[in-house]
Amino acid sequence: MEKKNLDWANLGFGYVQTEKRYVSVYKDGKWDNGTLTEDATVTLNECAGVFQYAQTVFEGLKAYTTEDGHIVTFRPDLNAARMVESAKRLEMPPLPEAQFIDSINQVVKANAAYVPPYGSGATLYIRPYMMGTNPVIGVKPADEYMYRVFVTPVGPYFKGGAKPITIKISDFDRAAPNGTGHIKAGLNYAMSLHAIVTAHEEGYAENMYLDAATRTKVEETGGANFIFITKDGKMVTPKSDSILPSITRRSLMYVAEHYLGMTVEHREVYKDELKDFAEAGLCGTAAVVSPVGKIVDHGTEICFPSGMDEMGPVTKKLYDTLTGIQMGRIEAPEGWIHTIC
Ligand code: PLP
Ligand code: COI
Repeated sequence: MEKKNLDWANLGFGYVQTEKRYVSVYKDGKWDNGTLTEDATVTLNECAGVFQYAQTVFEGLKAYTTEDGHIVTFRPDLNAARMVESAKRLEMPPLPEAQFIDSINQVVKANAAYVPPYGSGATLYIRPYMMGTNPVIGVKPADEYMYRVFVTPVGPYFKGGAKPITIKISDFDRAAPNGTGHIKAGLNYAMSLHAIVTAHEEGYAENMYLDAATRTKVEETGGANFIFITKDGKMVTPKSDSILPSITRRSLMYVAEHYLGMTVEHREVYKDELKDFAEAGLCGTAAVVSPVGKIVDHGTEICFPSGMDEMGPVTKKLYDTLTGIQMGRIEAPEGWIHTIC
């Protein structure tokens, strides 16, 4: 199969239309078998549940070309399970996990020419999503739904790739206690847009959100969880019911403990502790592991000893091990890598 002639090394994190996408429809109480289509346009009634009351959830995962030339995905079973949880919270019919995995396999295979080559620095981002499609005007869940999957080749989420970023502590809240912060609902991202535009205007790459109830604890950014490294080499990562249970973070916790022999603490992290950490980073499918060099808290700068030039040494080890597993250079734990072709 011949690859598309794209400038892989210079891709940003953007949308490039590829050839095939997957569509399945839920009607009369069941999901149909789903099919691939070339039609990238969705036409819906003006009163569809997704337009009126934002009834939509999504996932994000990637396909990688491994060192030995296979195309693989990373722990797609966890995305399937998380999408079920997201759907249930928004009163949507969960997509069977086997259908989720099959849809990913089909779309990736059909767009194999767009999967960036090994060593190019780019990957194929996979976006499954589901929405309420029939008209609803009283506030209630839709009866009919559409599930789709498209793919797009992407480069680094943050400009500059592995360069440490500066973030600010936001005055906006991302998620409420007992709200929807723990699921991947479009509404969480809609309400973060003003905060991210504000942060960008002020020259920051991202926001650090605090817990909405006390504003003393670290939660996450708009699109990634946090990891911190203590001066004695432990990995610390925030625990909260209102952050997204990142698959990358859960994988890094395992990698830190079982591959790198580190102590891992998954616990509440207080804003007041930030100044004591040696390294900080963001983790997620899009962010991979992105170093944070500086956090600004209303004019007070918290600068990590790892500096603004490169990733901290422990963060780098985590990054190298995780991406090594994803690209087939390092043996993966059982069940982490799904070979598509
Ligand atoms: N937190 C938020 C709010 C996200 O949108 C994402 C992206 O999926 C993550 C964390 C990272 O999760 P994952 O590692 O499963 O991609
Ligand atoms: C992902 O990492 O898959 C996400 O959905 C985060 C988003 C900000 C792109």
